[in-house]
Amino acid sequence: MFGCYLPLPEARCSLYSSTSPLISTSDQRLAHSLRFNLTQKLFQELPAHPRLFRRHNAVSEDYWLPPGELSEIDRNAGLDAPENIFRCFGCTEAECQGPKGCAKIPWRLEPGGYLKNILNARVYDIAVAGWLQIETPLEEAKQLSDELGNTLLLKREDLQAVFSFKVRGAFNKLAQLSQEELDRGVICASAGNHAQGVALAARTLGCHATICMPPTTTAIKIEAVRRLGGEIELVGQTYAEAQTHARERALKEDKIFVSAFDDPYIIAGQGTMGLEILRHCPAHLRRDLHAIFVPIGGGGMAAGIAALVKEIDPGILVIGVEPTGANKMAISLKTGKRVSLDNIDVFADGVAIKEPGAECFRLLRKFLDGVLLVDNASICAAIKDVFNETRTILEPAGAVAVAGVKAYLKARPEIKGKTMVAVTSGANMNFDRLRLVTELADLGANREAMLMSTISGRPGTLREFVNMAVPEGTHLNITELRHRYTEDRDCQVLWSVGLRTESDLTSVLERVTAAGTPTQDISGIEEAQVHVRHLVGGRARGDQQLSNEQLFTVAGPERVGAVRQLLNALGTTWNVTLFHYRKTGNRSSPILLGLEVPPGSAEKLTATTKASIDFILL
Ligand SMILES: Cc1ncc(COP(=O)(O)O)c(C=O)c1O
Repeated sequence: MFGCYLPLPEARCSLYSSTSPLISTSDQRLAHSLRFNLTQKLFQELPAHPRLFRRHNAVSEDYWLPPGELSEIDRNAGLDAPENIFRCFGCTEAECQGPKGCAKIPWRLEPGGYLKNILNARVYDIAVAGWLQIETPLEEAKQLSDELGNTLLLKREDLQAVFSFKVRGAFNKLAQLSQEELDRGVICASAGNHAQGVALAARTLGCHATICMPPTTTAIKIEAVRRLGGEIELVGQTYAEAQTHARERALKEDKIFVSAFDDPYIIAGQGTMGLEILRHCPAHLRRDLHAIFVPIGGGGMAAGIAALVKEIDPGILVIGVEPTGANKMAISLKTGKRVSLDNIDVFADGVAIKEPGAECFRLLRKFLDGVLLVDNASICAAIKDVFNETRTILEPAGAVAVAGVKAYLKARPEIKGKTMVAVTSGANMNFDRLRLVTELADLGANREAMLMSTISGRPGTLREFVNMAVPEGTHLNITELRHRYTEDRDCQVLWSVGLRTESDLTSVLERVTAAGTPTQDISGIEEAQVHVRHLVGGRARGDQQLSNEQLFTVAGPERVGAVRQLLNALGTTWNVTLFHYRKTGNRSSPILLGLEVPPGSAEKLTATTKASIDFILL
């Protein structure tokens, strides 16, 4: 149950501490650039564990930007490289095999071609067919605007009938197919949202839709596609495998393959969002419209919005936002070459794509102003922010752009009084993910810091440590504490502390440093945040078990200082061999407690604790 002991060499402390005020800005930049390597090393040092090995392999693309920094874009390299040229899937027409790629959709290369196609896009027909809400509102996020000192407008694509923008591109694509093509039926691969868009568009146009999805697709998305009448095939381990399968079936069964992003009609359909943003933005805010933030998966939405906005008002910045673990467009734009990531972090599954689309890439290297990278914790904080504003729970991909605005403005405090737009692109949240989201949200908003400390393996050191780090009289609260006693050896304490101000963290770190307790701030390392908290544990004494160890659960009241009080109540009499606590947000949270209880002392233990602690012997 308790996984494994985690040795963390002290030498790495300062490099890890990306948010620690104890290290200089240049150290922080270095820490960021080294982050992936170090994190990889961290996981390499852990004993074999299948879940960890999956994550370890996932961090294969060593490209990291400090929060809020825009990626560079090489707009010239590899313009004619064959891998960067767009050709329709399965096309063998001779005229399309040249250096310019697809010749059957000539408008895509004409000046103003996308503008015209976006203006003529058929997406609004679907509203006429009874599915309202194609045209979504642009709403001010008032609390966030106050916090950021700029007006933040949310393009509410989460309000679509299928809870994401995807229906725009899908309908525009299907609407330009001939009746003969519609009769053959369409097929697509999707991890969920595109599937719903295609299913809804097909249903509206009376055509058959086959949707290939990896079995890992969230239940809410599978069920939604089923309800829309799409024929579902669960296939492959990943989106990429499902896509390969869908393409094979398209060729074999003569169906029309509908790409999720790499298709000029899909891109133009998504571009209608750009049009609405400019039309709906009130005049007084439009004057100061500084930037539009768009999440990037394959790049279809960003390409469509950028192509439209840059034609109409090139002064408005269009900024793409990607999760750090799915940073394919940032790397591709920097290197001038479409890359395919070895592995990706699927937390924000809507944007967890390995390779950008060729046509999207062509448009973005021309029109985009840069890509920002955001980590999972800041995505979760953005979900919470939008929930506070709207009472809507966005899915992770849907909140990526909001996380991007926050990071952008945090890195540029001089920008004030401007208008920012963020596309909230989807709300197909998997309910099971909510717990992880709430756990990470406070870390992402810097309202909680997660720390790792090393204390000596001697009875009483956990109590001494907690009293030193978060002493009586402070308003700081321990929100998580995980510890496994290791006799006569240094042992790790994983602990989180709730913060009200940034100086709270400084004071904690100064205290532990002054006490000579090696401590590292792992708040900025999402792999560690997600996994390490489940892994502090192991044997309490070398190769043997502690013979008198007993396990208890304790109902720990949720109040400031409760953890310290419990440890002090146990005092010097009882050796705490194990402590697992995480604040749950309930009135009380369970604490799993290990104690050394020598034979004949059980009654004494009961007497010691009876007054204040509710023990349940396991
Ligand atoms: C909710 C959500 N946001 C953003 C995206 C990214 O869109 P694109 O692939 O066009 O970049 C997707 C893609 O499926 C999505 O589902």
